[in-house]
Amino acid sequence: MKKRRVGVLMGGTSAEREVSLRTGEGVARALEARGHEVARVVFGTEPVDKTLRDAKIDVAFLALHGRGGEDGCIQGMLELLGIPYTGSSVLASALAMDKLKAKEMFRLHNIPTPPYYVATESDLVELEELHGSFGFPVIVKPRGEGSSIGLTKAENMRELRLGIEAALEHDRCALVERYIKATEVHVGILDGRVLGCIEVVPKSGLYDYAAKYTAGETDYILPPRIAPTRARGVMNLAERAVRALGCTGAVRVDLLVTEGENEYVLEVNTLPGMTPTSLLPKIADHAGIDYGSLCEMILEGADLHAGAHGERNAANRRRSGVTFKERDLSLVRKAV
Ligand SMILES: Nc1ncnc2c1ncn2[C@@H]1O[C@H](COP(=O)(O)OP(=O)(O)O)[C@@H](O)[C@H]1O
Ligand SMILES: [Mg+2]
Repeated sequence: MKKRRVGVLMGGTSAEREVSLRTGEGVARALEARGHEVARVVFGTEPVDKTLRDAKIDVAFLALHGRGGEDGCIQGMLELLGIPYTGSSVLASALAMDKLKAKEMFRLHNIPTPPYYVATESDLVELEELHGSFGFPVIVKPRGEGSSIGLTKAENMRELRLGIEAALEHDRCALVERYIKATEVHVGILDGRVLGCIEVVPKSGLYDYAAKYTAGETDYILPPRIAPTRARGVMNLAERAVRALGCTGAVRVDLLVTEGENEYVLEVNTLPGMTPTSLLPKIADHAGIDYGSLCEMILEGADLHAGAHGERNAANRRRSGVTFKERDLSLVRKAV
């Protein structure tokens, strides 16, 4: 049988280009080491459709992050070209990337998420009124960015205004969220099954861009320092959040766990960082899945979701019953 040509899609023009290139190179090397024929498909200034057609790939491993790559756009193009891709569908990708729509879905599904309101440029005129009795501190973030880009903490009206202005440099809409003092836990999920979770402790107190991408700025504790029953509750909540948005493939859910009884879902990342030292590979490794196997399992899940293809794929899955992936994951469940 002819070998499939796997395209690892990376780069792009979003603020997360550099992170994407690191993820892409890690994945490409791991798949090559396991005998796959890999093409590095680096998006940049050329039109995306040209880059994609020139690459002549049979399946796409998405190592993109942020706008264009994580928000359903590239997924839509791959659907139209008939190239199966890793991760979530067009709709689920778009919902997860849009922090406001994701929060609306969480509320519909009774999934706790920090209280919030939205602010646009015109709201800056009467910000005091809009903010009302919401209180401080708050976290301000752009509606549709990742990697903590444009995210700040505000303790008063002056900082709130500056924070909204900073967020609006990245998006037309900012989200103002109640600051939750809590332990931060990220949960790794593959094809709807929980792999485990990790505690994230930024030394500065805020998990901003520098804390995420500067070595030594954040401690990662695995397993998290929360009671096992609590950890199970957190992982269940993460699973529910993923189901609420309809995400598939490898995802990482960011949650806050307070000293009291409360747990909050911050967001679902549909294309989480996949450098060999990223959080999802760390979680998987702890569950007994090494980096190369994880990349292969993600590749195995590549699919088309929309239109006739999507229906056919779903029907095939129903007919075939237990799939290769499910057998693999039963091993994972034993390991956790
Ligand atoms: N409401 C909040 N309360 C406390 N910390 C928050 C809140 N929202 C975000 N953070 C901090 O900012 C980080 C990034 O926020 P997140 O919503 O996950 O967006 P991003 O897509 O930028 O990762 C989180 O990992 C967390 O450390
Ligand atoms: Mg996050």
